[in-house]
Amino acid sequence: MNEPLVRFDNVRFSYGPDRPVLADCTFCLEPGRRLALLGGDGSGKTTILHLVVGLLRPSGGRIEILGKPRSHEADFHEVRRRIGLVFQDSDDQLFCPTVAEDVAFGPLNLGKPRPQVRQIVAQTLDSLGLGGYEHRVTYRLSGGEKRLVALATVLAMQPDVLLLDEPTSGLDEQAVERLAQVLAGLPQAMIVVSHQRQFWERVTEEAICLREGRIESKRLSGESDARPHLPPGEG
Ligand SMILES: Nc1ncnc2c1ncn2[C@@H]1O[C@H](COP(=O)(O)OP(=O)(O)O)[C@@H](O)[C@H]1O
Ligand SMILES: [Mg+2]
Repeated sequence: MNEPLVRFDNVRFSYGPDRPVLADCTFCLEPGRRLALLGGDGSGKTTILHLVVGLLRPSGGRIEILGKPRSHEADFHEVRRRIGLVFQDSDDQLFCPTVAEDVAFGPLNLGKPRPQVRQIVAQTLDSLGLGGYEHRVTYRLSGGEKRLVALATVLAMQPDVLLLDEPTSGLDEQAVERLAQVLAGLPQAMIVVSHQRQFWERVTEEAICLREGRIESKRLSGESDARPHLPPGEG
């Protein structure tokens, strides 16, 4: 598939009658690409991610996801299966009593058999350094641990695209380091919202910036359209 995974054309959005959050927002995420989405507080970064998965609907413009225009609720069922959003607030993502139940929820919902789901849960937790967390009580975890479990619930769905909304907030240095390593090693295309420059420079290869409801592009490594892939560990 060579169409963009996510494509916004002149998208407009406002929450109320005041100034729109997105005035004329145009960008795309190509297959295999990793984009950092930057912008000041309240500039509309979270709003963009929520528009991608259909939690919000634009008031104008066009949104194409996975090669198809999407506007109605039914259009977004496939989108939510194939595009995983890690919410800015982990409490919006986690709702089961234990870690294993939260991580198993998505795959079970997709109809995968229990033995396979157990394996997915164990592998996903291991990959995030959360081996042995299966029976931990979710609401008693630290902020950083919750954030990694939230990422685990999304990775367990084996999505084609990851949307990460400030994934390092609440993480200590060691956890940020582990997360950067994990993300750099994943095959998925992604959009990463982050204020932590060291983190997004390491995990993504191109940055776009949201300002006054519009996207301004900038490249991480200057020169051409060649768009080099940074190897994991660079940056
Ligand atoms: N549910 C909502 N109702 C009204 N205004 C909102 C709502 N959610 C966000 N906003 C406002 O929309 C703007 C963009 O919010 P958001 O997308 O969360 O920004 P960012 O993620 O870049 O910090 C902010 O001014 C915010 O206060
Ligand atoms: Mg936000």
